[in-house]
Parts: sequence; structure tokens; C-alpha cells
Amino acid sequence: MNVLPASLLFPMRTVSGVGQVADLLAECAAFGKRGVLVHGGSLVAGGTLDRILAAKPDGAEVGTWQHPGGEPTLAHVDALREVLCKNPVDWVAAVGGGSVMDVAKAAAGLRDAPLPTVAYHDGEPIPSSNVAYVAAPATAGTGSEATMVSVLTNDDTGVKKSIRHPSHTARLVILDPALLKSCPPALIAASGMDAFTQAVESFLSRGATDLTDMLALQAVEDINNSIETVFNGGDDASREALLRGSFLAGLALSNARLGLVHGLAHPLGARFHFAHGLVCAVCLPLVLRYNREACSEKYAQLEACLGTDIEARVAALNHSMRIANPFAGKALEDRVAAVTETLASGSTKANPRDVDASAANDILDRLFSAN
Ligand SMILES: [Fe+2]
Repeated sequence: MNVLPASLLFPMRTVSGVGQVADLLAECAAFGKRGVLVHGGSLVAGGTLDRILAAKPDGAEVGTWQHPGGEPTLAHVDALREVLCKNPVDWVAAVGGGSVMDVAKAAAGLRDAPLPTVAYHDGEPIPSSNVAYVAAPATAGTGSEATMVSVLTNDDTGVKKSIRHPSHTARLVILDPALLKSCPPALIAASGMDAFTQAVESFLSRGATDLTDMLALQAVEDINNSIETVFNGGDDASREALLRGSFLAGLALSNARLGLVHGLAHPLGARFHFAHGLVCAVCLPLVLRYNREACSEKYAQLEACLGTDIEARVAALNHSMRIANPFAGKALEDRVAAVTETLASGSTKANPRDVDASAANDILDRLFSAN
């Protein structure tokens, strides 16, 4: 295994600490005086948005844009791009969950691009961006703050996939565990299991290196040790560990890629509109069982880190955080297309064990079985 990935990508700067988001606008002023703060509804309801805006430096011109909610779509990105084009900005800051960050990241990155977002989603080369992007995650999480990737759904076709460019990587990441306080338990559970899945999949990925393994294993340990505590109310230390684990998993996946859980999660998520983390949580045990024979040494490392069998631990986490399989007993109408999308996914190609249509169908059979 290589020590480093062939290409290594990290955010330019990361600051962390309780209350750190209060400095957001002062930090953003370093990128220019005009910017837009992108956020979700919970930031308004909890009063955090007002507290951030109250600390606006003299001379700064700061607009706000609220993400309408739901999984991020091309239409959301186009709507924000239009705002950014009408009011040229030096920076775009996202304070929110993965959806908020993915929409803001893509819109900032494509601000000066000539084509509609759908063209880049369909594979047109993405031009480099000069707009500074800043990310402060309010869930833990997708790890979006650590990556150049935006996962977006085309509402017209139902296709969910990513766009990416190195220039879309955050110039600044703010990790403030206090932002997790307003996260409801069900969201802590789903987004935390996304982060756990990402840590495990990047550790097992064909693209894993010594460096990403270090990040991924620390992420597994941090998330495993904190997620149930945060789900049950938590404290500063557990929120800090969960947010750190999510960020480290994002760094790991950004530089090692993922695996079959994420190859399945995008086509399933686009069809059923369940939360991404929920889909990951219920696919993970099935994929772990499938992959075990291909990477027994790495399973031993994971199980040494967890102190138990990994499949049993995932089942226990799902049970204790009341995550049930939402696919049980449902029908997957266009299974052939879903399998084709799964096999074409870059995540599936990074899976440590080869995946063919028969293997994907077998996992889908188990996932959709009523038992
Ligand atoms: Fe994910």
C-alpha cells in the first residue's frame, strides 16, 4: 500500500473549538468585503444566524441565503448561482448540514462558469473557481467540509451524483461543536452513521493509503466513542469527538474514495428520498458481510479499534439509535437501472471486493426483504 495518495487534497485552513463560529465573518473578511452566508432553517430558529451576523466587521457587506431544505438538487444550486451572479461576492460561507454545504460549495465553485449546473452534472469539464468557499458544519456529518465534492440530485431525471473540482475545496473550515447542540437526535443518528460508514469505507477502499488509513481509523474511533452519547444529549467533549471524526472521515474519503455502500446509496437515495445517512446505516452491515473475505487483515484492525465484531457493532449502533431498515418489504421497481447505476459508481469501483450484477442483486434482495 502507498504512503500517500497520488493526489492529496485538504482544505487550506481548519480552525476548531467551542464558540469558534462567532468569528466566521471576521475570518471571511480576509477573503474580501462582500459575501453570502448560506444556511438552513435551524440556524435561524436557534438564533445562531443572528449571533453570527451581529459580529459583522465594519465595512463588510454580507447577504444571506436560506437553503429550502431536503436533499441538495441542481435547482437549488442554480437558484443560488443566480443570486451570486447578480450580487458579485468575494466569498461564500456555508453554515449547516451536508445539503447546505454541498449547495453552497457547488454554487460558489460555479459562480463564473458559463453553463447551467446540469451540464457539469452530466460531465462537462468544470472550470477553476476564484470564489473563496468557507464551511462550518452544523451536523456530523457528511464530511462535506473536507472535500471538493458536491452530491446533487437532478430532479428531472432522478439521477444523484457528484460534481467536483479541486478549486471547490474550502479555503477555511470552522469546526464548532456547539453547532451540533441544535441537531435533533434522529439527525445525529443518520448523519453520524454516514460519517461512520465513510470512515469504514475509506479505510477498506482500493484507494486507501497509509495516510488515509490513519485518518480513517481515528475517525472510526472518534465516532464509535461519541455517537451514542451525542444522540442521548451529549456534552462538549462528545460533540467535539463526533465532529472531529466526521471531518477526519471526510478527509479520508476525499483522498481514498469510498465503496459499495455509497455506490448503492446514491441510486437508492434518489428513488426513495430517505436520508442519505439512514440508507448508509442499513446498507453497511450487508456490505461489510460481502467484503469480509477480501480484506480480513483490515477487518482485524477495525475490530481491534472497536473492541468487537464490526457487523455486531453496526447492528448495535443502529438498534440503540432506533435506526430501522426503511426498505424492508418495499419494492424496487426499476431494479435493473438501479443496479447499472450502482456498478457504474466510482464508489463501487473503489470497493475492496469486485462487485458484479449478481452481487449487487443479492444485497438488494436482502435489503428489501421483509425480514
Ligand atoms: Fe456519505
